[in-house]
Amino acid sequence: MFFSAFMIDLRGITQIYKGSKGPVEALRGIDLSIGAGEVFGIIGRSGAGKSSLVRVINLLNRPTSGEVIVAGRDLTKLNDNELRQARRQIGMVFQHFNLLSSRTVYDNAALPLELAGMSKDEIRKRIDPLLDLVGLTQLADRYPAQISGGQKQRVGIARALASNPKVLLSDEATSALDPETTRSILDLLRKVNNELGVTVVLITHQMQVVKQIADRVAVIEAGRIVEMGRVIDVFTRPSRTSPRA
Ligand SMILES: Nc1ncnc2c1ncn2[C@@H]1O[C@H](COP(=O)(O)OP(=O)(O)OP(=O)(O)O)[C@@H](O)[C@H]1O
Ligand SMILES: [Mg+2]
Repeated sequence: MFFSAFMIDLRGITQIYKGSKGPVEALRGIDLSIGAGEVFGIIGRSGAGKSSLVRVINLLNRPTSGEVIVAGRDLTKLNDNELRQARRQIGMVFQHFNLLSSRTVYDNAALPLELAGMSKDEIRKRIDPLLDLVGLTQLADRYPAQISGGQKQRVGIARALASNPKVLLSDEATSALDPETTRSILDLLRKVNNELGVTVVLITHQMQVVKQIADRVAVIEAGRIVEMGRVIDVFTRPSRTSPRA
């Protein structure tokens, strides 16, 4: 089996969409390696290709070319069944939370395990401590309409962690939240990284978000990585392509 020291290894990724006015080159040759246990930020303007890139990591987007190696396996080479298994190692949280309004906090968090056919007892053993971790034990029986945006994102994070993933992908998870709630969600993602050892890949257009929690950052412009390095270096280095908030 292919071995990589990296949790995520993207090699030569291109993504070309069929747009209504012809092909759109969203990713133009991305090489990116993210170590196990890192919190890695990806920052760029609207349309730069951030969502396209993060969706390649779990193959929600199949790239036009390139290799997507996660935990040592090239996801582009797996059959449907193998891919379903591999995807359980990759959790994802979304800007608009994507909760089901007819299910309680507990049942939303438990959904991936129900779909995987796990027994009620096993699900409880897994979800109770997760709700505790994200601070929602008291609200387990509420519905999404009865909780705040920050609390909704905590449900999203618990759901993303339900299948015990090695990687957590976050696409603008804090963009719909006020600054104080943003800080508390970023603190939670840090805690998830520290306590569970989960590798976190965080997409944002806000420099503040990257500064608060990322170890390293890549700046993406028009489908290419134009800068990459430790957060402290990238944000203090004078540059032609300095990221903007
Ligand atoms: N399904 C699609 N079909 C055609 N073009 C697409 C599709 N998805 C994205 N694009 C285009 O690809 C480019 C990159 O889009 P992407 O959503 O990855 O950017 P982004 O950095 O996430 O932007 P934002 O910050 O606004 O979310 C854009 O030009 C966008 O219009
Ligand atoms: Mg996006």
